Amino acid sequence: MARINTRYNALINHESGKAYDITKPQSFCTESHEPLVAQYDLSKPLNKGILQGRPLNMWRYKEVLPMWDDQYIVSLGEGFTPILKAEKLGQRYDIRQLTLKEEGGNPTGSFKARGLGMAVSKAHELGIKEFSIPTAGNAGSALSAYCAKGSLKANIYMPKATPKMFQLDCSIMGATVNVVEGNISDAGAAMRVDNADGKWWDVTTLKEPFRLEGKKTMGYEIAEQLNWKLPDVVIYPTGGGTGLIGIWKAFKEMQELGWVDEIPTRMVAVQTTGCDPIVQAFEAGLSSSTPYKNPAETIANGLRVPHAFGHKLILKTLAESDGCALAVTEDDMRSALSEYAQSEGIFLSPEGAAVWHAAKRLKDEGWVKSNEHVLMLNTGSGYKYAENLW
Ligand SMILES: Cc1ncc(COP(=O)(O)O)c(C=O)c1O
Repeated sequence: MARINTRYNALINHESGKAYDITKPQSFCTESHEPLVAQYDLSKPLNKGILQGRPLNMWRYKEVLPMWDDQYIVSLGEGFTPILKAEKLGQRYDIRQLTLKEEGGNPTGSFKARGLGMAVSKAHELGIKEFSIPTAGNAGSALSAYCAKGSLKANIYMPKATPKMFQLDCSIMGATVNVVEGNISDAGAAMRVDNADGKWWDVTTLKEPFRLEGKKTMGYEIAEQLNWKLPDVVIYPTGGGTGLIGIWKAFKEMQELGWVDEIPTRMVAVQTTGCDPIVQAFEAGLSSSTPYKNPAETIANGLRVPHAFGHKLILKTLAESDGCALAVTEDDMRSALSEYAQSEGIFLSPEGAAVWHAAKRLKDEGWVKSNEHVLMLNTGSGYKYAENLW
């Protein structure tokens, strides 16, 4: 296949560096159970001026994305979401530069459009026709939509506690929807039973390498939209952690390309007090986390992840960036959600509300200074969570 437009040239186990054949579909390293990470030749000069005039979606960064041939791209116009100033709240809490990257405007209402748009497109290029995924809701919606658009087939496994809107969304898109007792790990286990013969391409978070590449585009956009001056702090609601890892990957790639001079950013992972395996590992100074037992139900379905497959990469990102991790309560999320809506006019997802609460707490504790630029990710639209919030 002609390898045009891209510098994608390797797929490696992030720990051992073992390389995998990039001309074939690859999932994860089955020997060590670690994610594979796409690599690019960043050594040759690439002027960021190439971006000028390109369509305002995530594919504008095609040189650092894995597609070889544009004809296989399955797109619904994902990416290039706005960065909004939260002026009133910034003033109220004395954070002079407080901004929100509003991912709720993506196709199917969340940042999952980026990762699944990329995973489906690359799999399509490699000849795959049928997919499966365990999901807290948004990823299932996104997979269903991209499969519908690409005339492909999606099999969705979601916990029973997921708001019905997500179930409806996936069904309307023509996906097969399976509702499973328990949390997302149970949904994954049910999916693996049904997929024991491997007939479907499993796009579980970080169990295939390209959702990460799609989520990475948030990092490229943050830089470009801020005129290549990265924020001091990025706060991200962390379940499987793909966005956190992806944004950091983008920052490092851009530094190698010379697109940004320095990376001043401290990355922050936010979880809920009812399921905070990453926070616990971070606080104990560990480089890996252990599965969280009995994760509590939460209004932020996307944060009920008892064990992130990419746990080591999440913790590495926090360590490398001198970041931190913290957990918030259900009450904190509810009050932060209302406060943000009433002050800034955005109906945050509960995951986004967790981020806003974390920003306030970090400022209060002195970890964030008044003169720092704090960029928050609202990873999804609150509208789909109405059932959780009445
Ligand atoms: C709105 C929202 N925010 C955050 C997350 C967690 O994302 P990640 O798995 O990239 O950590 C999810 C996952 O379902 C989500 O739907």
